[in-house]
Amino acid sequence: MALEHLLSPTAVGDLRLKNRVVMAPMTRSRASQNDDCVSELHEAYYSQRANAGLIITEGVHPSFDGKGYNRTPGICNEAHVAAWSKVVSAVHKEGGLIACQLMHCGRVGHPYNKAAGTRMLAPSAIAARAEIFTEQGMQPMPTPEAMSVEEIKAVIEDYRQAAERCLAAGFDGVELHCASGYLPGQFLASESNLRNDEYGGSLDNRLRFIGEVIDALASVVGAGRIGLRISPGNPYNDHVDADPETTYAGLLKMAETKGVAWVHAIRMPATGIDSLSLTREHYSGTLIGSDSYTADEAEDCIASQEVDAVSFGRLYIANPDLVARFKANGPFNQMDKRTIYGGEGAAGYTDYPVLSDDA
Ligand SMILES: Cc1cc2nc3c(=O)[nH]c(=O)nc-3n(C[C@H](O)[C@H](O)[C@H](O)COP(=O)(O)O)c2cc1C
Repeated sequence: MALEHLLSPTAVGDLRLKNRVVMAPMTRSRASQNDDCVSELHEAYYSQRANAGLIITEGVHPSFDGKGYNRTPGICNEAHVAAWSKVVSAVHKEGGLIACQLMHCGRVGHPYNKAAGTRMLAPSAIAARAEIFTEQGMQPMPTPEAMSVEEIKAVIEDYRQAAERCLAAGFDGVELHCASGYLPGQFLASESNLRNDEYGGSLDNRLRFIGEVIDALASVVGAGRIGLRISPGNPYNDHVDADPETTYAGLLKMAETKGVAWVHAIRMPATGIDSLSLTREHYSGTLIGSDSYTADEAEDCIASQEVDAVSFGRLYIANPDLVARFKANGPFNQMDKRTIYGGEGAAGYTDYPVLSDDA
């Protein structure tokens, strides 16, 4: 199939993408154990994939409190800026664009994965009913601390400062992770947010935190460089809301009002919610669809305007030259599940062959 729509350029807010192939954000747990810095390995990994119209990085914590998982990278200090700026430069040198996904995990995490003295903060002191990987094995997630209003404002300021660091590192944009039960989702969902102040209760109140974070990010990078990641109804990490369709409709309306450049929606039929139609109904900016697309399906869905662009996750893990492989109609390397997460080595990270190597 000719992929004329998928491979055509497009504007996403202030960004000009060379094609509509987006690399999906994927945690790979290869940051330094000591200081959450990315390394030369990340430079190679991301620059190998600069054929995408836009790369969204793995989830990156805006503050050390925001870290939940083992070996995830941060953008919390000058060392992080210096390390990420090498990654960004390497991607730019290959003609790509790269946005940083800001992932504050809130109550999702475990002290084994976090630096000493850091906190697990959440809207309410309710533990996520789920387990998390640590180097000491799977662990139940502890009960987090409920934030005071002053502490909420401080976390919003953490996001703002993280956006400043993203700009300093040269990132082309920022994607706010509002899916998968992390801190923004914890404010949104009725079961994790039992506050009775202006940040809890009514939908407007549950939306307030995300609205203030978007404003903080936009004050630094501009709304035209901000995206939102959503997955309405996805219960991952005990993300449970009484009425996710209405809640996410509210979030999408807010994204529209604030002029957010893109919404990156995971389609997940098992939730019973059509996240792509829901987004189109309430939001007029760029819609990036995600989850199990092939190139042909992406082409059809862009041609029919169901979505404007499509992100590819697992295909990009195994196929650094994904766009060339799409053009050649394959073949595609298979992903090695054993090397998805962890370690410092190149195996399963930067050593998947490109087409010319195969030949
Ligand atoms: C190894 C792995 C790590 C992931 N980490 C993240 C993440 O950090 N942030 C995020 O928003 N989504 C994350 N996802 C979800 C992907 O972005 C994507 O939505 C999912 O893989 C479905 O797309 P695919 O079928 O093209 O792989 C991850 C997925 C995988 C496979």
